[in-house]
Amino acid sequence: MVEYAGEGTDLVLSSVDYTLTDNVENLTLSGTAIKGDATELFGRCGGQARAACIIPRSSTFLRNTTMTLRNTHERYGTISIGLHWLTLVLLAAVYACIELREFFPKGSDPRNLLKHWHFMLGLLVFGLSALRLAWNLANASPGITPPSPHWQAVSAKLMHVALYALLLALPLTGWLILSGEGKPIPFFGIELPPLIDANRSLAKRIENLHEAGANLGLLLIGLHAAAALVHHHLMRDDTLRRMWPQRR
Ligand code: HEM
Repeated sequence: MVEYAGEGTDLVLSSVDYTLTDNVENLTLSGTAIKGDATELFGRCGGQARAACIIPRSSTFLRNTTMTLRNTHERYGTISIGLHWLTLVLLAAVYACIELREFFPKGSDPRNLLKHWHFMLGLLVFGLSALRLAWNLANASPGITPPSPHWQAVSAKLMHVALYALLLALPLTGWLILSGEGKPIPFFGIELPPLIDANRSLAKRIENLHEAGANLGLLLIGLHAAAALVHHHLMRDDTLRRMWPQRR
Protein backbone atom coordinates (compact mmCIF):
# COMPACT_ATOMS: atom_id res chain seq x y z
CA MET A 1 0.00 0.00 0.00
CA VAL A 2 1.21 3.48 -0.68
CA GLU A 3 1.65 5.40 2.52
CA TYR A 4 0.31 8.88 2.33
CA ALA A 5 2.93 11.31 3.63
CA GLY A 6 0.96 14.47 3.40
CA GLU A 7 -0.23 16.62 0.57
CA GLY A 8 2.50 17.53 -1.93
CA THR A 9 5.07 15.31 -0.16
CA ASP A 10 7.71 13.70 -2.33
CA LEU A 11 8.18 9.99 -1.80
CA VAL A 12 10.69 7.45 -2.96
CA LEU A 13 9.41 3.93 -3.49
CA SER A 14 11.29 0.72 -4.03
CA SER A 15 10.29 -2.92 -4.00
CA VAL A 16 7.00 -3.80 -2.12
CA ASP A 17 3.69 -4.50 -3.72
CA TYR A 18 1.58 -1.44 -3.59
CA THR A 19 -1.66 -0.28 -5.01
CA LEU A 20 -1.97 3.34 -5.79
CA THR A 21 -5.39 4.48 -4.70
CA ASP A 22 -5.00 8.01 -3.54
CA ASN A 23 -4.28 11.25 -5.29
CA VAL A 24 -0.71 11.66 -3.99
CA GLU A 25 1.36 14.22 -5.82
CA ASN A 26 5.04 14.26 -6.79
CA LEU A 27 5.94 10.61 -6.49
CA THR A 28 9.32 9.26 -7.49
CA LEU A 29 9.46 5.53 -8.14
CA SER A 30 12.84 4.29 -6.94
CA GLY A 31 15.43 3.83 -9.63
CA THR A 32 13.11 4.84 -12.42
CA ALA A 33 12.79 8.08 -14.30
CA ILE A 34 9.11 8.05 -13.53
CA LYS A 35 8.35 11.24 -11.73
CA GLY A 36 4.97 12.74 -11.92
CA ASP A 37 1.57 12.82 -10.43
CA ALA A 38 -0.38 9.88 -9.17
CA THR A 39 -2.45 9.60 -12.31
CA GLU A 40 0.62 9.10 -14.51
CA LEU A 41 2.11 6.53 -12.14
CA PHE A 42 -1.22 4.76 -11.81
CA GLY A 43 -1.48 4.57 -15.60
CA ARG A 44 2.06 3.25 -15.99
CA CYS A 45 1.73 0.60 -13.30
CA GLY A 46 -1.86 -0.38 -14.07
CA GLY A 47 -2.50 0.34 -10.41
CA GLN A 48 0.00 -2.32 -9.31
CA ALA A 49 3.78 -2.18 -8.93
CA ARG A 50 6.64 -3.56 -6.88
CA ALA A 51 8.17 -1.40 -4.20
CA ALA A 52 10.01 -2.26 -0.87
CA CYS A 53 9.91 0.80 1.21
CA ILE A 54 8.67 4.31 1.21
CA ILE A 55 11.21 6.93 2.19
CA PRO A 56 10.45 10.61 2.49
CA ARG A 57 12.54 12.74 0.14
CA SER A 58 14.33 14.29 3.14
CA SER A 59 16.18 10.98 3.67
CA THR A 60 18.78 12.05 1.13
CA PHE A 61 21.50 9.74 2.46
CA LEU A 62 19.46 6.62 1.72
CA ARG A 63 18.21 8.06 -1.56
CA ASN A 64 21.65 8.96 -2.84
CA THR A 65 23.47 5.82 -1.82
CA THR A 66 21.33 2.70 -1.66
CA MET A 67 18.77 3.93 -4.13
CA THR A 68 20.89 5.02 -7.03
CA LEU A 69 24.34 3.41 -7.00
CA ARG A 70 23.08 0.02 -8.17
CA ASN A 71 20.76 -0.69 -11.09
CA THR A 72 17.14 -1.42 -10.31
CA HIS A 73 14.65 -3.21 -12.56
CA GLU A 74 13.43 0.20 -13.75
CA ARG A 75 16.56 2.26 -14.36
CA TYR A 76 20.35 2.23 -14.36
CA GLY A 77 22.19 3.25 -11.18
CA THR A 78 24.82 5.96 -10.88
CA ILE A 79 27.76 3.59 -11.48
CA SER A 80 26.34 2.21 -14.73
CA ILE A 81 25.32 5.67 -15.92
CA GLY A 82 28.74 7.13 -15.08
CA LEU A 83 30.60 4.30 -16.82
CA HIS A 84 28.36 4.58 -19.89
CA TRP A 85 28.91 8.30 -20.49
CA LEU A 86 32.59 8.17 -19.50
CA THR A 87 33.12 5.42 -22.10
CA LEU A 88 31.48 7.61 -24.74
CA VAL A 89 33.76 10.57 -23.91
CA LEU A 90 36.84 8.32 -23.92
CA LEU A 91 35.86 6.74 -27.23
CA ALA A 92 35.46 10.18 -28.81
CA ALA A 93 38.97 11.06 -27.61
CA VAL A 94 40.43 7.71 -28.79
CA TYR A 95 39.02 8.20 -32.31
CA ALA A 96 39.93 11.92 -32.37
CA CYS A 97 43.57 11.28 -31.36
CA ILE A 98 44.17 8.71 -34.08
CA GLU A 99 42.37 10.66 -36.82
CA LEU A 100 44.09 13.96 -35.94
CA ARG A 101 47.54 12.36 -36.22
CA GLU A 102 47.14 12.54 -40.00
CA PHE A 103 47.56 16.32 -39.83
CA PHE A 104 51.17 15.95 -38.64
CA PRO A 105 54.21 14.53 -40.44
CA LYS A 106 55.41 11.01 -39.61
CA GLY A 107 57.87 10.96 -36.70
CA SER A 108 56.86 14.48 -35.50
CA ASP A 109 56.27 15.10 -31.79
CA PRO A 110 52.57 16.01 -32.05
CA ARG A 111 51.86 12.89 -34.13
CA ASN A 112 53.67 10.66 -31.63
CA LEU A 113 51.89 12.35 -28.73
CA LEU A 114 48.46 11.79 -30.33
CA LYS A 115 49.28 8.11 -30.91
CA HIS A 116 50.55 7.83 -27.33
CA TRP A 117 47.20 9.15 -26.02
CA HIS A 118 45.31 6.89 -28.45
CA PHE A 119 47.04 3.88 -26.90
CA MET A 120 46.58 4.96 -23.26
CA LEU A 121 42.94 6.05 -23.56
CA GLY A 122 42.15 2.92 -25.60
CA LEU A 123 43.60 0.77 -22.83
CA LEU A 124 41.53 2.73 -20.32
CA VAL A 125 38.42 1.89 -22.37
CA PHE A 126 39.43 -1.77 -22.08
CA GLY A 127 39.70 -1.58 -18.27
CA LEU A 128 36.45 0.34 -17.89
CA SER A 129 34.58 -1.99 -20.25
CA ALA A 130 35.72 -5.08 -18.32
CA LEU A 131 34.62 -3.37 -15.09
CA ARG A 132 31.32 -2.36 -16.65
CA LEU A 133 30.61 -5.84 -17.90
CA ALA A 134 31.28 -7.31 -14.45
CA TRP A 135 29.12 -4.62 -12.81
CA ASN A 136 26.24 -5.23 -15.25
CA LEU A 137 26.37 -8.98 -14.68
CA ALA A 138 26.15 -8.39 -10.92
CA ASN A 139 23.26 -5.94 -11.28
CA ALA A 140 19.66 -5.96 -12.43
CA SER A 141 19.03 -5.19 -16.07
CA PRO A 142 16.40 -2.42 -16.26
CA GLY A 143 13.48 -2.99 -18.60
CA ILE A 144 11.97 -0.38 -20.89
CA THR A 145 8.64 1.27 -19.99
CA PRO A 146 6.40 0.71 -21.89
CA PRO A 147 8.02 -2.55 -23.04
CA SER A 148 9.33 -2.79 -26.65
CA PRO A 149 8.25 -5.51 -29.08
CA HIS A 150 10.20 -8.78 -28.73
CA TRP A 151 12.24 -8.32 -31.92
CA GLN A 152 13.44 -4.93 -30.74
CA ALA A 153 14.44 -6.28 -27.33
CA VAL A 154 16.41 -9.09 -29.04
CA SER A 155 18.10 -6.65 -31.46
CA ALA A 156 19.03 -4.35 -28.56
CA LYS A 157 20.57 -7.30 -26.69
CA LEU A 158 22.57 -8.35 -29.78
CA MET A 159 23.73 -4.76 -30.26
CA HIS A 160 24.94 -4.58 -26.64
CA VAL A 161 26.83 -7.86 -27.02
CA ALA A 162 28.47 -6.59 -30.25
CA LEU A 163 29.40 -3.26 -28.65
CA TYR A 164 30.97 -4.95 -25.62
CA ALA A 165 32.84 -7.38 -27.88
CA LEU A 166 34.32 -4.43 -29.80
CA LEU A 167 35.09 -2.40 -26.67
CA LEU A 168 37.22 -5.31 -25.49
CA ALA A 169 38.56 -6.55 -28.85
CA LEU A 170 39.74 -3.17 -30.22
CA PRO A 171 42.07 -2.34 -27.31
CA LEU A 172 43.27 -5.95 -27.19
CA THR A 173 44.13 -5.98 -30.89
CA GLY A 174 45.82 -2.58 -30.41
CA TRP A 175 47.89 -4.07 -27.59
CA LEU A 176 48.76 -7.01 -29.86
CA ILE A 177 49.85 -4.66 -32.68
CA LEU A 178 52.32 -2.81 -30.47
CA SER A 179 53.55 -6.12 -29.01
CA GLY A 180 54.08 -7.57 -32.51
CA GLU A 181 55.90 -4.42 -33.61
CA GLY A 182 58.18 -4.75 -30.57
CA LYS A 183 57.15 -1.26 -29.40
CA PRO A 184 56.51 -0.14 -25.80
CA ILE A 185 52.90 -0.24 -24.54
CA PRO A 186 52.44 2.94 -22.47
CA PHE A 187 49.79 3.27 -19.77
CA PHE A 188 49.88 6.48 -17.71
CA GLY A 189 53.48 6.29 -16.54
CA ILE A 190 53.88 2.53 -16.59
CA GLU A 191 54.69 0.15 -19.42
CA LEU A 192 52.48 -2.89 -19.96
CA PRO A 193 54.03 -6.22 -20.94
CA PRO A 194 53.83 -7.37 -24.59
CA LEU A 195 51.16 -10.01 -25.27
CA ILE A 196 53.12 -11.74 -28.07
CA ASP A 197 56.69 -11.88 -29.35
CA ALA A 198 57.74 -9.37 -31.99
CA ASN A 199 56.39 -10.41 -35.39
CA ARG A 200 55.96 -7.60 -37.92
CA SER A 201 53.87 -9.48 -40.49
CA LEU A 202 51.46 -10.72 -37.81
CA ALA A 203 51.29 -7.18 -36.38
CA LYS A 204 50.36 -5.87 -39.84
CA ARG A 205 47.54 -8.41 -40.19
CA ILE A 206 46.22 -7.55 -36.72
CA GLU A 207 46.39 -3.85 -37.62
CA ASN A 208 44.09 -4.49 -40.60
CA LEU A 209 41.65 -6.22 -38.24
CA HIS A 210 41.94 -3.33 -35.77
CA GLU A 211 41.10 -0.79 -38.48
CA ALA A 212 38.14 -2.80 -39.80
CA GLY A 213 36.86 -3.28 -36.23
CA ALA A 214 37.22 0.45 -35.54
CA ASN A 215 35.12 1.28 -38.64
CA LEU A 216 32.49 -1.26 -37.61
CA GLY A 217 32.58 0.28 -34.13
CA LEU A 218 31.71 3.71 -35.56
CA LEU A 219 28.77 2.21 -37.43
CA LEU A 220 27.45 0.37 -34.36
CA ILE A 221 27.84 3.41 -32.10
CA GLY A 222 25.89 5.47 -34.67
CA LEU A 223 23.09 2.88 -34.86
CA HIS A 224 22.99 2.56 -31.07
CA ALA A 225 22.66 6.34 -30.64
CA ALA A 226 20.06 6.59 -33.43
CA ALA A 227 17.96 3.80 -31.83
CA ALA A 228 18.08 5.60 -28.45
CA LEU A 229 16.85 8.82 -30.10
CA VAL A 230 14.05 7.02 -31.96
CA HIS A 231 12.90 5.44 -28.69
CA HIS A 232 13.02 8.80 -26.91
CA HIS A 233 11.45 11.09 -29.51
CA LEU A 234 9.19 8.80 -31.58
CA MET A 235 8.27 5.87 -29.34
CA ARG A 236 8.39 8.12 -26.27
CA ASP A 237 9.51 5.38 -23.86
CA ASP A 238 12.13 5.65 -21.10
CA THR A 239 15.04 4.00 -22.99
CA LEU A 240 17.18 7.14 -22.87
CA ARG A 241 15.83 8.54 -19.60
CA ARG A 242 16.79 5.44 -17.60
CA MET A 243 20.43 6.03 -18.69
CA TRP A 244 20.26 9.75 -17.90
CA PRO A 245 21.46 11.13 -14.52
CA GLN A 246 18.46 11.42 -12.22
CA ARG A 247 17.29 14.86 -11.23
CA ARG A 248 17.86 15.49 -7.52
C1 HEM B 1 38.32 1.35 -28.06
C2 HEM B 1 39.59 1.41 -28.34
C3 HEM B 1 40.19 1.72 -29.68
C4 HEM B 1 39.62 2.20 -30.83
C5 HEM B 1 38.17 2.56 -31.07
C6 HEM B 1 40.67 2.32 -31.82
C7 HEM B 1 40.52 2.83 -33.09
C8 HEM B 1 41.54 3.00 -34.00
C9 HEM B 1 41.41 3.67 -35.26
C10 HEM B 1 40.12 4.30 -35.82
C11 HEM B 1 42.61 3.62 -35.88
C12 HEM B 1 42.99 4.24 -37.22
C13 HEM B 1 42.82 3.27 -38.32
C14 HEM B 1 43.16 3.94 -39.63
O1 HEM B 1 44.25 4.50 -39.74
O2 HEM B 1 42.31 3.90 -40.50
C15 HEM B 1 43.52 2.94 -34.99
C16 HEM B 1 44.85 2.71 -35.27
C17 HEM B 1 45.74 2.15 -34.38
N1 HEM B 1 45.46 1.78 -33.07
FE1 HEM B 1 43.70 1.83 -32.18
N2 HEM B 1 41.84 1.89 -31.24
C18 HEM B 1 41.59 1.53 -29.95
C19 HEM B 1 42.49 1.10 -29.02
C20 HEM B 1 43.85 0.93 -29.25
C21 HEM B 1 44.82 0.51 -28.27
C22 HEM B 1 44.49 0.22 -26.81
C23 HEM B 1 46.01 0.45 -28.88
C24 HEM B 1 47.36 0.09 -28.34
C25 HEM B 1 47.62 -0.13 -27.07
C26 HEM B 1 45.80 0.82 -30.27
C27 HEM B 1 46.78 0.83 -31.24
C28 HEM B 1 46.62 1.28 -32.52
C29 HEM B 1 47.69 1.34 -33.51
C30 HEM B 1 49.14 0.88 -33.30
C31 HEM B 1 47.14 1.89 -34.66
C32 HEM B 1 47.87 2.21 -35.98
C33 HEM B 1 48.40 3.62 -35.80
C34 HEM B 1 49.33 4.05 -36.92
O3 HEM B 1 49.85 3.18 -37.59
O4 HEM B 1 49.51 5.26 -37.09
N3 HEM B 1 44.48 1.11 -30.46
N4 HEM B 1 42.85 2.60 -33.85
